[in-house]
Amino acid sequence: MKTDVAIVGAGPAGLLLGHLLCAAGIAVVIVERQSAAHVLSRIRAGVLETTTTDIMRQLGLDQRLKIEGLRHEGFHLSYGARSIRIDIAALTGKHVTVYGQTELTRDLMDAAPQRGLEILYEAADVSLHDIETAAPRLTFHRNGSAAMLESRFIIGCDGFHGVCRRAIPAGAGRSFEKVYPFGWLGILADVPPCDPELIYANHANGFALASMRSEARSRYYVQVPSDTNLEDWPDDRVWDELAIRLGPDAAAGMTRGPAIEKSIAPLRSFVFEPMRHGNLFLAGDAAHIVPPTGAKGLNLAASDVTYLASALTDFFRHGQEAALALYPDRALARVWKSERFSWFLTKLMHNFPDDSAFDRRIQHAELDYIASSKAAQTAIAENYVGLPL
Ligand code: FAD
Ligand code: DHB
Repeated sequence: MKTDVAIVGAGPAGLLLGHLLCAAGIAVVIVERQSAAHVLSRIRAGVLETTTTDIMRQLGLDQRLKIEGLRHEGFHLSYGARSIRIDIAALTGKHVTVYGQTELTRDLMDAAPQRGLEILYEAADVSLHDIETAAPRLTFHRNGSAAMLESRFIIGCDGFHGVCRRAIPAGAGRSFEKVYPFGWLGILADVPPCDPELIYANHANGFALASMRSEARSRYYVQVPSDTNLEDWPDDRVWDELAIRLGPDAAAGMTRGPAIEKSIAPLRSFVFEPMRHGNLFLAGDAAHIVPPTGAKGLNLAASDVTYLASALTDFFRHGQEAALALYPDRALARVWKSERFSWFLTKLMHNFPDDSAFDRRIQHAELDYIASSKAAQTAIAENYVGLPL
């Protein structure tokens, strides 16, 4: 098999890039380890920047997003008895859209056949070869046989645990990492949200987040220690803890119900530089991870592939490599700003086990300052809606 661009991974990064390249008339094949159903079963992101929704509009794949996506013009930072509303519409003129990663992925998957985007699901043992040459190849096993995909470029969209970043020789890149001593336990339940807007809560027991997927489906998270067992958190314990951490007003609006999904996600900041080696390029979680607090992960994957699609289009249409050469620096400039924001909001809103009483007072002083300062609220709002491309 031969194609122009071989993409590894059919998460948001791989699917968005695949569609953008197909729309530009470039031949693409995506190779994905899991089944389509498995990819759709992962409950992750919920908040989309306009950077991301704009790609769906540009692709003409935003019909459902326009109808079912919820436009959010503000969110809340709560601490103790206080709550700060960050009025993102008034402060930035922009908004975000609440639309689950699952739904975005489904829209992209469903449109693949009619757009001529080939996705090979359940491809095992994907390996990369000759990435430093102009004819890099993928080999893998599928339907019981060995397969090979020849290409001009390989794009690693295979997430943090994928094979592409690991195919780069040691010494040809550098990783920067920060692991946090806690995770987020998330539940999804078919109950109405406790508030029309998201609430990020700083509480002495730990962080909590009230989010949603629709007016009938809620998504909540609580901060838990890294070594937490899910079995120790029956639904009632999650709801009790949410009611404490989110405060009495949110608790009064909260409807409890059985969790239809419950999982724990670790928190990590990670960047791999550069996002290219030879003719292998990395995009999305394969190259960087942010803690979920700023809702930036999927949105960064979307901005990476926006840059990459335009650079690859330049290459295949005009034979120009200049934009491809600039890709790592262009993408990393935006990545590091999102890393900073996600780290800042994580520090501001979580309970760090090693924090002293002094650190706790500083956290509250910072929240008090934000409550009193339009400048501080603007800085948060403009990062939350997404920095310009
Ligand atoms: P992935 O979604 O990880 O996709 C990688 C794909 O590659 C997968 O399908 C995988 O099966 C495949 N793959 C892996 N290895 C191989 C292999 N060897 N061969 C072939 N295929 C392979 N982001 C936001 O922007 N907003 C949010 O509100 C938000 N909330 C989040 C909440 C939680 C709890 C979590 C965990 C994450 C959240 N994120 C959020 C982050 C977001 O989910 C990720 O950043 C996003 O999924 C990254 O997309 P990706 O395509 O780069 O990687
Ligand atoms: C969701 C996840 C986030 O990380 C976030 O900051 C906001 C919402 C969610 O899953 O709904």
